[in-house]
Parts: sequence; structure tokens; C-alpha cells
Amino acid sequence: MLTVLPGLVVQFIVTGCTLLFTVTAASKSKCNGYSVYNIKQSIFQLEANLQLIGEGCGIYGPDVPRLALSVTYETDTRLHVIIQDSEKERYQVPTEVFPRPNFAGVDPKTSDLVFSLTESPFGFTVSRSSTGEVLFDTRGTALIFEEQYLRLQTWLPSGPNIYGLGEHFDTFRLPTDNYTRTLWARDSDGVPYGENLYGSHPVYFEHRMGGTHGVLLLNSNGMDVKIDRVSLGRQNLEYNIIGGILDLYFFAGPDPTHVAKQYADVVGRPAMVPYWSLGFHQCRFSYRDWFEVAEVIANYSSAGIPLETMWTDIDYMEHRSVFSLDQLRFPIERMREIVHNLHKANQRYILMVDPAIAWQDYEAFNKGLELDIFLRNQDGSLHEGVVWPGVTVFPDWFHVNASTYWIDMIEKNFNPETGIDIDGIWIDMNEPASMCDFPCTDAGKQARKLGVPPDPPPPRNPPRHLPGYSNLTDDSKPEGTFLKENHLLYRQNASFVYKPKRDAVADLPRWNASTPHLKGLLFPHYRIRNGGPTGILSDKTVHTDVMHMNELMEYDVHNLYGTMMSSITRQAMLRRRPDLKPFIITRSTFAGAGRHVGKWLGDNAARWDHYRSSIAGMLNFASIFQIPMTGSDVCGFKLATTDKLCARWTTLGAFSPFYRNHNHDEAPPQEFYRWPLVTEAAKYAISTRYRLLDYLYTALHQQSLDGTPAINPLWYIYPRDKSTFPIDLQFFYGNCIMVSPVTEENSTKVDFYVPDDLFYDFETLESLRGHGDFRTASEVPFNRIPLHIRGGCIVPLRVESANTTTELRSKDFELLVALGPDGTATGQLYVDDGVTIDGGKKVHLNFSYAQGNLTSSVVGEVDPSEAGVHISSVRVIGEGLGLFHSHEL
Ligand SMILES: *[C@@H]1O[C@H](CO)[C@@H](O)[C@H](O)[C@H]1NC(C)=O
Ligand SMILES: *[C@@H]1O[C@H](CO)[C@@H](O)[C@H](O)[C@H]1NC(C)=O
Ligand SMILES: *[C@@H]1O[C@H](CO)[C@@H](O)[C@H](O)[C@H]1NC(C)=O
Ligand SMILES: *[C@@H]1O[C@H](CO)[C@@H](O)[C@H](O)[C@H]1NC(C)=O
Ligand SMILES: *[C@@H]1O[C@H](CO)[C@@H](O)[C@H](O)[C@H]1NC(C)=O
Ligand SMILES: *[C@@H]1O[C@H](CO)[C@@H](O)[C@H](O)[C@H]1NC(C)=O
Ligand SMILES: *[C@@H]1O[C@H](CO)[C@@H](O)[C@H](O)[C@H]1NC(C)=O
Ligand SMILES: *[C@@H]1O[C@H](CO)[C@@H](O)[C@H](O)[C@H]1NC(C)=O
Ligand SMILES: *[C@@H]1O[C@H](CO)[C@@H](O)[C@H](O)[C@H]1NC(C)=O
Repeated sequence: MLTVLPGLVVQFIVTGCTLLFTVTAASKSKCNGYSVYNIKQSIFQLEANLQLIGEGCGIYGPDVPRLALSVTYETDTRLHVIIQDSEKERYQVPTEVFPRPNFAGVDPKTSDLVFSLTESPFGFTVSRSSTGEVLFDTRGTALIFEEQYLRLQTWLPSGPNIYGLGEHFDTFRLPTDNYTRTLWARDSDGVPYGENLYGSHPVYFEHRMGGTHGVLLLNSNGMDVKIDRVSLGRQNLEYNIIGGILDLYFFAGPDPTHVAKQYADVVGRPAMVPYWSLGFHQCRFSYRDWFEVAEVIANYSSAGIPLETMWTDIDYMEHRSVFSLDQLRFPIERMREIVHNLHKANQRYILMVDPAIAWQDYEAFNKGLELDIFLRNQDGSLHEGVVWPGVTVFPDWFHVNASTYWIDMIEKNFNPETGIDIDGIWIDMNEPASMCDFPCTDAGKQARKLGVPPDPPPPRNPPRHLPGYSNLTDDSKPEGTFLKENHLLYRQNASFVYKPKRDAVADLPRWNASTPHLKGLLFPHYRIRNGGPTGILSDKTVHTDVMHMNELMEYDVHNLYGTMMSSITRQAMLRRRPDLKPFIITRSTFAGAGRHVGKWLGDNAARWDHYRSSIAGMLNFASIFQIPMTGSDVCGFKLATTDKLCARWTTLGAFSPFYRNHNHDEAPPQEFYRWPLVTEAAKYAISTRYRLLDYLYTALHQQSLDGTPAINPLWYIYPRDKSTFPIDLQFFYGNCIMVSPVTEENSTKVDFYVPDDLFYDFETLESLRGHGDFRTASEVPFNRIPLHIRGGCIVPLRVESANTTTELRSKDFELLVALGPDGTATGQLYVDDGVTIDGGKKVHLNFSYAQGNLTSSVVGEVDPSEAGVHISSVRVIGEGLGLFHSHEL
């Protein structure tokens, strides 16, 4: 019955008497896990069955008696372990959301990872074959596999270096004692520490002196991942999951960059963004009318601060209903003038769209009803929430008609002829967020209580004339699909919440004693540590007993909502402009979302600690989760910022891939031009960012090809330097520029770590020889940020900055050759047309410098911009070398 094929390591280790338990409700004799039988092996795969030992645990319901195990050596560096019910009927992350990677399978002998099985009770280890080091070890802990509770534990070395398991706002290296990371997408206003936030990324990277590895648990159900030292007497990590299956991918590394690339092979590589999206973005919630938007654009221009992209939040909508336009405050002619003037000046425009559709008599609602794409309760009634426009319904992204609906709505509303010609789109509230407290039995009442939608400020005549705008005042006539007369009628009565009559069954209770299954979906026995006042899974979101198409339950697919919206929004943007790279920023993400969208770090506050934590947030998304187009709300979203905090954040934000100033309606405005100090900081920061924009574009391009992170924690570059492991107040922009911001409130001083390597100050080009010690920069003005170039790098820079990225693209390059301790340096430059899907004409240059010779290898057209751009100078900097100014090439 048992055959062991050559090459596959199957070890049997008796661990029966060393079982340890955390399950207090279960006695030792009861909770013994599973035993293995019926092992079958092929060249690169092992399959077996697991049989429950005795009665099982029964801790949160009966145990599943028989399980199926499969272990696949997919590549030399990737091992795939699945433990599921033997009928293979349980929910798994759908392939339409998360396509599984192709693989040929490899001989286990060539694999960097070794799987070893313990027969009874079932346990396994995953080890690194080169060192024999055990990376994952479930032996001696009972696997629990119940209808609504799965538990798997692994032992870890003490004080492990663990990163990932997002989305969170904690330190980049995670705490390892009494620490719970809950994954359940939530509108987590104010990004609280220690709680579940908007997205779910069930992956961790663990770094050891012997190498780095990664573990992805491909499961979209709610879960608590507990990392603890005390409870079992030994360091461990424990998954507590309320559904789905155990679908584990192990990545061998051994370098952190390898793990990142191996992870990208599975979740997908991030979509490349348009060049212009790396420019500076301005947004604010509560611009009162078109004039204020136009005035902000004009004020940026007169302040001499380059603004690339203007945004408008939900304010442009009529009473905050998506796919509508407030024709009094944001009349379509004026919106078109804004877009026209922006485009004329090579600037861009972005609008927000939320998933929740107002329950009103207007096209977005009626069309959704006709295509039947809204989520419904078990009794057939529409599932309600309360969002910005009041009572809303939610699209079911799994519905066969959903993409037709969404593509059509976006096409009509953002078509230059019938709507507003946006350049990118911002999708928010897609956890999905609702303001309705569970059980939300009367959404209309809650909407009225919350005062949503509020009455907008009264329209006003433009206070002054702005160049480029016509002098029309009150005679703008509605046109285009936005402006439905009937919609307007409903909306004119502010106290009126439109509600069509429900069908007869609508008043049945959602669940009761005769529907235990649904009750279980609402209140599973194991309660994950969901944040918020009640912790109830369905609080302030779609209820977990709601069914999507294909009988998918919200209970299982909740964490996928934002990513489904992201991929369908990407399809819609591609439908409008099939040749152009879409630019989409979302709030909620699941593993793999980077294939479709970028992500901003959510609703932070103007606090110094939030400024500091924004670095860890960026590192998580860029270097672990493969969503490099990321950044925080610069200067802080909530609360009043100060000139000093905003100035510092302006310089720090310039070194995140996504660079946007955004704030809250209840906070005072914080555009960069509002303070002299911030104006200075912005001019310096944007100018420095723009000179380095192609360096960033090259790094993002590389990540889109193979997952190499465009932003790096220090330990990715110095994996053997223990001092770097906890550092998350410094980082590498690309892999050559070390950014060391001042982090203390109002201070001009920072102690920053300098690894044992050669660096050069970005401004003075003075060399700095590090010895793995901290140095002090004591006089850092508020409009500056300490930057150091790592020796060994060749950094391409535009010779000067510009007011727009379009103009920037006509500037020549210079190469800054920063020699390493061995006198050599290498670098890359990738340039393409910046906008089309495949980049159009492109050039990829590799540079290397040794012993006075600079060589470059080129693939592609030499000047894809056709603007006569050259590499017009080369500067070589080295320790004791002085400075060479070199020739035109
Ligand atoms: C563990 O953390 C929780 C809160 O997160 C706290 O209530 C509890 O006291 C902590 N336990 C120990 C042993 O520190
Ligand atoms: C723009 O600048 C003008 C002139 O300084 C000022 O009066 C106005 O308040 C500013 N508006 C905005 C929206 O920044
Ligand atoms: C899709 O929309 C059409 C109307 O265009 C409707 O007849 C059909 O029932 C919808 N499909 C489903 C599965 O709801
Ligand atoms: C609009 O009014 C301003 C002054 O109020 C004037 O300078 C400008 O010429 C007018 N423009 C048009 C197109 O009438
Ligand atoms: C406004 O709504 C209220 C409450 O539903 C209703 O009583 C009233 O007749 C409405 N007024 C108009 C003008 O529609
Ligand atoms: C920091 O500076 C701001 C003004 O820019 C001031 O309001 C705040 O009180 C200062 N904080 C401290 C701790 O001095
Ligand atoms: C931006 O334009 C202004 C004039 O409008 C000019 O003075 C300034 O030098 C330009 N800035 C850059 C970086 O080109
Ligand atoms: C520089 O390159 C040239 C041509 O490849 C080669 O002949 C020469 O030896 C190189 N010089 C050094 C110092 O390596
Ligand atoms: C540049 O170097 C990379 C490896 O570092 C290589 O994959 C790529 O083909 C090279 N490109 C050119 C144009 O030489």
C-alpha cells in the first residue's frame, strides 16, 4: 500500500506522544488530528488521504472525517501543498479571480525545497535542501479541519523575522509575541494599528541568516494568523481560518528578491503604469464646485509647483450617487473645460467611482436591475447598505452581466462625447464598505440618522474669472447621459429616500432557527478578531449570508470584492482606450490585485506616527504584495496637518511610486502652495523626483516583467546584515537610492543606518563609507530629505526637471556613475512611449563601468521619444576619485 519512489523524501517520524494543544475545549484524547493512508506518488507529486483520528476535536463543529493531501514540486523553487476535503467540494479561491500558475513539475531531487511527511498523527515539514534547515513544521500539532474552522500551526525559530500578512499598519517586521493578524477586508477608517484593514494578503516572507523563504496561504476566508512565543512554550505561527481549504505555496528564495519574484510567478506580475501617473497628483474630499477645482489647478500653476494630475472625489456626483453629475456645482460644460484646459497643458484628470449604487430611479440603478447584477438576500430582495448617497445596492462582480454593466456605465459616463473624459479612475469603498450597522434592518432609517447624503453647499457664481474658462454663469444646459431629469427630481427633495416596492417575501427574516446554515455564515463559532465596535463579520459591509452568482457566498468571497471590482474596472478602462495602459487606484486588494491596479494606503491622518508608518505600508505593498504603484495620502488625510509635517511628508511622498496629496472634508485644505515652507519642499521634492522619474519607471518596468521589487527594504539589499532586519524608517527607492527621512516631530535631525558599504550624498556627491553603524544628519531643513546613492550603481537622471512629465520627456539624460568599493558600477535605463499597452518603440540600456570604461548594451530604438533625447553627460563619482565631468555621447 505504501510505495516510496526514488527521489521523493517521505520520512516517518513518530511524534505521537509530544502533541501539544491550544484547544482548551478539547481533551488530548479527543483532538489527535489525522493519520495518513493511501499514499500515491508520481514523478513530481504525492497524493494521500487523511483520516480523522478518533472523534476529532469538535471544537467549532464536527471535524471533516476524510481529507485529501496533495504535494506538488511545481518548480525547483516552488512547492505546492493542498489539504482539502476528499470530495473536493469545498470553496476555493475561484480561478477567475486568481488564475493558478502553469508549471511543468520537477524532479524532487532538483528542488530547493524538501517535503517530509509524518504519518500519524499527520504532520509535515518543508526544508531547504541545501542546508537541511526546516522552514515550516507542523509536527506535533493537531491539524483541525472543520466546516467553519481550520487550524494549522508551524514551529518557528525564536524571534523570527516575519514580514507581510497584510493589510496592516504595524511595523514592517511583524511582532512575534501575542500578535494576531486578522485578514478581513474592512473600511478601517483612520488605519488603526493592530487591526484588519482594507485588503487581504495571506503571504509572509521569513528571513533567516541561511536565506529567505515565503509562504502563501491561498485562502480568501476570514482568518486570524497568530504569531506567538508563549502559548505553546515555543515560537509558532498559527492559522485560524473560518472556511475554504489549506492551499499553501512555499517559495525557496534564497534571496529576498528571489522570493519576491517567485511570489510574483504565482500571484501575477504587477501591471505597468503610464509614465504620467508617476507625476504629482492633487486631490481633496470636499472641493465645493468646479470653480474650486479649477482654482486649485490655477493656484498650483501660479505657485510654480508642477501639478500633473487633478482629482475629484465624490463631490462631483449628484448627492454622491455614482454615475451622476451635480449639474449645479459641477456642470458638464465646466467639467469639460477643466478637462480641456488640463489636457491642453499636458495635465490629467481623475474621478472617483464607488461600487455601491444609489437605490434611486436613475440609469445606474435601473440598468443594474434590468441586468439583474445587484446582490440579493436569500429571500430574493435586494441587499441594502448605506453608503454616501444613502440607501444603496451592491454589484455582484461574479454575475455574468456585471462586466457588461460596468463597462457600459464607465463607457457612457466617461466618454468625451457623452460624459467626462477622464485619464484614470479611482475606485474606493470596495471592501465593500457600508455605513449600516448590522443587522441593517432599516437602511433608510440609518441613512437618515447618518444624514447621508448631506445637502450639498449651495451653488455659487464663480468668484473670479480664471483664464481659459468661459464666462457662462447660470445658463449651462444639461446634456449627456449623466443628467437624468427624473433622477434630479428625486434628488431635489433632500429628505426623500426613494425605495421601490419590495416583492411579497421581502419581510421574511433573513435567517432564523430553521436556517442554521445561514446563521453559521453570519455568526461562525470561531470569531476572528474583526475590528470595529462589534467585531461582527457583516457589520458595515455586505452580509456574509448573501449569495453571489455561481452560489458563491459573501462569507467566502468577501475578501475578493475589491479585486473583482479592480479587474472589471480595468476591462472597462481598456474598452474605452484599448491601446492605452489603464491607470486605476483602489482601496481594497487581495493577493494578485497588482495585475490590475495600484493601491493607496487608505484613510490615514495628519500625524507624525502615520507619516512614519507610511513607509512600512509602502514596503509591504511594493516589496511583498506585488502592488508597487502605492503610496500614502501625503500630509495626511484626516485632521489638520502642519506646515512642518506636510513639508516632511511632501519630500517623503516624492519617494513613493504613487505620489498624491489628499485630505478629508473635515480637515483644512492642504494643497502644497498653502504654506511657503511646503511650497519650497514641493518644488525641491518634485524636481528631484522628476529627474529620477525614468529611474523609477525602469524599476517599475522590471517589476512588471519579473517581480523584482521597485522599492526595497534595507534587508533586501543587505540580507546578511542583521541590523537592517527591523528597519522601516529607511528604504531603497529602486535598489540604488537610500532614503533616510527625518522622522521625529518638528525635528531637523535624523540618526540613520549606513550599511557596510560605500554611499554618496545625492546632493553634494560626497562619499560616505558605512560600517554598519548609525550616523546623524543634524541640519536637515524641512524642504530636504537625506538621500544616498549606493556605490556600484549607475543612475540615469534627466538633466533638469519640468512642469509636466510630457515636457520632462524632452530632456536629456545624464548618467551618474557611483563607483562601488571595487571601482565598478552597473545600471539600467528603460524608456518607452510611456502610454501604450506594449510601450510602443522602446529602448533598454544596460550600463557597466569598470576601470575607466563605460560600456552599454542596447536593445531597441535608440530614441523612442523621437524628441532628440540624448545621454548628454556622464559623471563618475568614486571614493578618492574626485569628480569627473564627462563628454557628450
Ligand atoms: C495579548 O494581547 C491581548 C490584546 O491584544 C491582551 O489583552 C493580552 O493581555 C495579551 N496577553 C499577554 C499574555 O500578553
Ligand atoms: C487660490 O489663490 C487665490 C489667490 O491667492 C486665493 O484667493 C484662493 O483662495 C485660492 N483658492 C484655492 C482653492 O486654493
Ligand atoms: C442578463 O441580462 C439580461 C438582460 O439584458 C437578462 O435578461 C438576463 O436574465 C441577465 N442574466 C442573468 C443571469 O441574470
Ligand atoms: C470673462 O470675464 C473677464 C473679466 O470678468 C474678462 O477679462 C474676459 O475677457 C471674459 N471672457 C470672455 C470669453 O468673455
Ligand atoms: C419630500 O419627501 C417627503 C418625505 O418622503 C414627502 O412627504 C414630500 O411630499 C416630498 N416633497 C416633494 C416636493 O416631493
Ligand atoms: C510642531 O510645529 C507645529 C507648527 O508647525 C506646532 O503646531 C506644533 O506644536 C509643534 N510640535 C511640537 C511638539 O513642538
Ligand atoms: C515651470 O514653469 C514656470 C513658468 O510657468 C517656470 O518659471 C519654471 O521654471 C518651470 N519649472 C520647471 C521645473 O521647468
Ligand atoms: C576599455 O575597453 C577597451 C575596448 O573594449 C579595451 O580595449 C580596454 O582594455 C579597456 N580598458 C580597461 C582599462 O579595461
Ligand atoms: C541587461 O541585463 C539584464 C541582466 O542584468 C539582461 O537580462 C538583459 O538582457 C540585459 N539587456 C541588455 C539590453 O543587454
